[in-house]
Amino acid sequence: MATLQAIVSEKIIAAGGAITFADYMSEVLYHPTLGYYNRMDMTIGERGDFYTSPMVHPIFGHCVARQIRDIWKQMGSPDPFVILEMGAGTGALARDLLDEWDRLQQLKDRHDPIIGQQQANPVGKTIALRYLIVEQSPILRDKQAETTSEIARERIEWYSTLQEIHDYGSLLGVIVSNELFDALPVHRLTFENGRLQERYVTLSDLPGEDEPSFAEVTGPLSDDGLVSIFPDEMLNLMEEGDRFEVSLQWGTVIRQMAAALKEGSIITIDYGDTAPEVYWTHAKKGGIRCCYKQALVTDPYVRVGLQDLTADADFSYLQRTGEAVGFTTTWFSNQSEFLEKFGFLDKVTELQRMAFKDLRADFEMQRMLTLYLPQNGLGGLCKVLVQQKAANAE
Ligand SMILES: C[S@@+](CC[C@H](N)C(=O)[O-])C[C@H]1O[C@@H](n2cnc3c(N)ncnc32)[C@H](O)[C@@H]1O
Repeated sequence: MATLQAIVSEKIIAAGGAITFADYMSEVLYHPTLGYYNRMDMTIGERGDFYTSPMVHPIFGHCVARQIRDIWKQMGSPDPFVILEMGAGTGALARDLLDEWDRLQQLKDRHDPIIGQQQANPVGKTIALRYLIVEQSPILRDKQAETTSEIARERIEWYSTLQEIHDYGSLLGVIVSNELFDALPVHRLTFENGRLQERYVTLSDLPGEDEPSFAEVTGPLSDDGLVSIFPDEMLNLMEEGDRFEVSLQWGTVIRQMAAALKEGSIITIDYGDTAPEVYWTHAKKGGIRCCYKQALVTDPYVRVGLQDLTADADFSYLQRTGEAVGFTTTWFSNQSEFLEKFGFLDKVTELQRMAFKDLRADFEMQRMLTLYLPQNGLGGLCKVLVQQKAANAE
């Protein structure tokens, strides 16, 4: 059976000697059977190559549920209501979000000690909630079914693309993703000879190697749309040798999400920042991060298909793209502030009180803080963007 390296190398030869980094990343992450997210033996989570917020502690999913409940109420408590999660990984967010949604729904006395009276179910009735998961990986779709409870599974509908949803375009609800945008294939750009150019992936002819190996060459931009992702002022500040990663799919996915909704919001949680900061952070060395067995490595051309590749998302571009299709930004901040807004610190205080006599409470609190601490942790590096379909928008 052909290896992933051999498949990529065939693609390079068929393309005349070079492919874009986005094409390379598509293959190594999403090849239908050998790509990182589609391999039979893929493992994400603490025993795998990396972990994400939903895998750290259920409080993350609980806070997302509270945010969605706020949106549901602002929309006039529609029934039925849809929560659509795109790129659901192990299914941990779906599990915790649905648990918290049901807990809030069942509050008989309409008072929540953590988040207050106004959050509880205003009418006490159970609404028809549909939970849709759009997940490209069949292996992960199976994993998500294992992670979620039987009751939750009855409400979950799985799809491999947004367009497969039978009522795509008329959904009333919220689309949420965590670490989807940083996993979308990016183009590698470089500022060389006074102009923006692109780095392509080619074959390196090192003698005596059994497997093909890869190298980069510089060439003209593969798509004119790549320049329009950068703000104008940034184009004037680029310096010789600067490197940037941008994804045309950031815009494509936001537009597809927007088109799925008749009314509602898009919640995007991801590594990244607004421009130009998101690009300056990595300008001197490029912003591709590879994860292998919980360690960060910089070479995307080793362990092909066995290590994860990511690049920070440009939240300014996501906002601009949303605005162009009738969405306004209603919230943008870092993960710490998002968690604080939805009762995170009350839970920490509760655990702090218990930690004196219960070591498990201390352990749990430490895990929770991984989600929150802003310096170089998920709390600061991950941002949360909420975009809402403006009233009367087409
Ligand atoms: C980095 S993982 C994050 C998983 C999960 N959201 C979490 O936080 O643990 C990226 C996920 O997005 C999925 N994915 C990537 N591109 C996708 C696409 N175009 N459509 C649906 N799922 C996609 C991957 O298969 C994977 O489940």
